Amino acid sequence: MALPISLINELKSTVGDQWVIIEEKAVERYLYDETAYGVRPQPVRDIVVVKPGSTEEVSEVLKLANKYKAKVYIRGGGTGLVGGAIPTKPGIVLSLERMDKVHVDSENMVAEAEAGATLGKLIEEAEKHNLMFPAHPGDEGAFIGGLIACNAGGSRAVKTGVMRNYVLGLEVVLPTGEVLKLGAKTIKNNFGYNLAHLFVGSEGVLGVVTKAYLRLYPKWSYTATIVVPFDSRVKAFKTAKKLLFSGLIPLALEYFDRRVIEASAKHLGLQWPIMEGDYFLMVILAEALEDVLFLELEYVDKAAREEGSLEPFATQRTDEQKTLLKIRSEIFTALKKDTFDILDTTVPLGSVDKFIEAVMDIERKHGVWLPVYGHVGDGNIHIHVLNYQGYTREQLIGVSEEIYEAALKLGGVITGEHGIGYIRRKYVRRLLGDVWVETMRKLKGILDPNKVLNPDKVIPEE
Ligand code: LAC
Ligand code: ZN
Repeated sequence: MALPISLINELKSTVGDQWVIIEEKAVERYLYDETAYGVRPQPVRDIVVVKPGSTEEVSEVLKLANKYKAKVYIRGGGTGLVGGAIPTKPGIVLSLERMDKVHVDSENMVAEAEAGATLGKLIEEAEKHNLMFPAHPGDEGAFIGGLIACNAGGSRAVKTGVMRNYVLGLEVVLPTGEVLKLGAKTIKNNFGYNLAHLFVGSEGVLGVVTKAYLRLYPKWSYTATIVVPFDSRVKAFKTAKKLLFSGLIPLALEYFDRRVIEASAKHLGLQWPIMEGDYFLMVILAEALEDVLFLELEYVDKAAREEGSLEPFATQRTDEQKTLLKIRSEIFTALKKDTFDILDTTVPLGSVDKFIEAVMDIERKHGVWLPVYGHVGDGNIHIHVLNYQGYTREQLIGVSEEIYEAALKLGGVITGEHGIGYIRRKYVRRLLGDVWVETMRKLKGILDPNKVLNPDKVIPEE
């Protein structure tokens, strides 16, 4: 153990003996997140897992880290895809799992959520009060703290926006241990510079999110899912564009092809229920009034047929909608075993079709399969680079970089939802520029003078 025994003892007296874990087997599950095997960094095993039970304890742990100049890795649900939670130097893994309370203030339509509560719990608690958390920023096992720190997106972003749009207030423990309370339960708040949003999307390099006020909404009473099959990709994208530019705002507008969706269905032991077509749009609608939902359903059906779709499949049944969404949501997991890296390139709305064409050119050029799917409603497209036989690591990285270049050429970005984390740090200086890097370093230097928090993440190496 590289950490001094006196630090371990002080950690124990801060959070309690049973919440300080050093036994190798117990530590193992804190070493990885969901990052694809090809690109995830090798974790360092020389770590101690600390599980504080309150903001005060988080603060004390950070003060100790500064005293001993020990590194601290913040850990939420471990669902990240860019190595953000993987410890790469000896130090402390600060797990927020015990801080999992959610209180719904239904009168004000606000949830007070601790960082260690899961997205699933937030959804459940809101529902008890006939309210909802409109966004669905990913895996329901993700923790609120991580979702905020990574400004998570998800397939509903087309209608609901991303995590940032729901954060009314935050409690953050700064790297040096001071507790910063920001915002209020109000919708509007113009009292002072909105520092809270400095931490949303900071990926944990500037502070530890411990608690948040999140905006809730009344539930949509009516939802429907329409899967529209096509015999050509071009028709699918033309339809997507038509829907997006019609002014109708679907809850989700997803694209995938038969090969990808059947891989996921098979992985789940299910069958993809639509027999026709090789390319699909999945449109989810959600409205407060049933008549509005019906009008929208009709419109989607008509617009799709006009663009030459095959027979659309529409359902309002909750179980059927759940199954369709589940099959879509598990594509990543189904392909993970063979995945070198998963990309979340994002392009401006009008360029999605051009981008996919460019990706298909790259696919043909290399003679490989590039599974493509994702959030066509907001231009955020997932592409898996698989472990192709006979390809070296450098070649696989080269394929990802060709895809990045295609997105950049269209005015896009290399990540729209998964973030920089560990694995995309090498692109930061080139794509965001020296001034960005120096500004982030200055900010980091002010907040974290001893460089204890989340080393090797986001900010490029000096
Ligand atoms: C998804 C994850 C991979 O959209 O972001 O399925
Ligand atoms: Zn996604």
